[in-house]
Amino acid sequence: MNRNIKLSENVYYLGVNDRRTSRFENLWPLPQGVSYNAYLINDKKSVLIDTVELSNTDSFISEIKDILQGKKLDYIVVNHAEPDHSGALTSLLKSYPDLCIVGNRNTFKFLDGFYGEWNNKLIIDHGDILETGDRILRFYSTPMVHWPETMMTFDEKDGILFSGDAFGSFKSLDGGIFDDELNIDCYENEMRRYYSNIVGKYGKNVQRAFTVLKDVPIKMLASTHGPVFRKDINWALTRYDKWSREETQPGVVVIYGSMYGHTEEMADYFARKLKEAGVPEVEVYDASETHPSFMLSAVWKYNGVVLASPAYNNALFPSVKQIIDKFLERKMVSRHVAILGTSTWSGGGVKSLNKLVEELDWDQVGSSIEAKYSADKNDYELCDILAKELAEKVLKK
Ligand code: FEO
Repeated sequence: MNRNIKLSENVYYLGVNDRRTSRFENLWPLPQGVSYNAYLINDKKSVLIDTVELSNTDSFISEIKDILQGKKLDYIVVNHAEPDHSGALTSLLKSYPDLCIVGNRNTFKFLDGFYGEWNNKLIIDHGDILETGDRILRFYSTPMVHWPETMMTFDEKDGILFSGDAFGSFKSLDGGIFDDELNIDCYENEMRRYYSNIVGKYGKNVQRAFTVLKDVPIKMLASTHGPVFRKDINWALTRYDKWSREETQPGVVVIYGSMYGHTEEMADYFARKLKEAGVPEVEVYDASETHPSFMLSAVWKYNGVVLASPAYNNALFPSVKQIIDKFLERKMVSRHVAILGTSTWSGGGVKSLNKLVEELDWDQVGSSIEAKYSADKNDYELCDILAKELAEKVLKK
């Protein structure tokens, strides 16, 4: 079936939606699905840009055949070798045995390792071009956005940047493919969750890619996941720029663990006090009920955090520990942070939080508050003071 979705004359969108996979990379929940985007340029030489994930291979190859109408597929450009984009390669080779695979030296390390050696390959370097007839495709090396081999391909005729994972997003494309066909603001949270969890560790590399691309006259952004931007490319560019610099906005994410509700009570009280002190946005998460990817995405947005934990086996509550590990792995830049918790008979939760916040090198505001079994009048008075102090820091930005 040829859906005939065109980015421009002879440039086709060949993406597929995945609403079945519950976790991307077998890690990150997909409550609203995801799309795997690939593109086909049907010039004198035909060029496929990336493929799709393995389970969608049949419909993908069938659409290529419908568009090419018996003509052979000459090239496949592998901007990114991760199997969500290279999964259809081996099947594609069965349909097009003479197909030439285009990638850089690192690309072939991955492809050879995943799928075996290839006979027909074209190894390109940063800045090289591929002439397809009416078009020139230029390759830009953008390592670690998201893997070491990642590169982008620029169609100089129509100004289309095939950007790989960069500018990508979770959430399927429901009928609309282009930014002007969608309520694009509905993608912001899932785009930030995608960025912070998948690419977020490599912010410096994203910034390097921005430098590499600064003089490239981009008119359209065609990523491997999510909407194609043609009306307002700045919508995506400014967000990726901001997120890769970890530029935050005033607001507080309250993350708590709680077995029987006592720490939760403190966290909720604290959240109320933050609002009373004028913090514009406060989000509260039960760390045991929320997947860390959502909390990480929220913390990526705001400059304030509250961490609250009971003692558990003389240490931190496991679900709270899990999200702090994500902050550490990504070496997230400093946030203003307040610490709360309960100690019961042993203590250990708040002590661990103090240590981890020091390790994160975040700005701990005031002193941590540790109630015994549940917060008493004195503990709540301390919360009043600490919430005001945190609000002041958050609002000063
Ligand atoms: Fe969408 Fe890094 O793969």
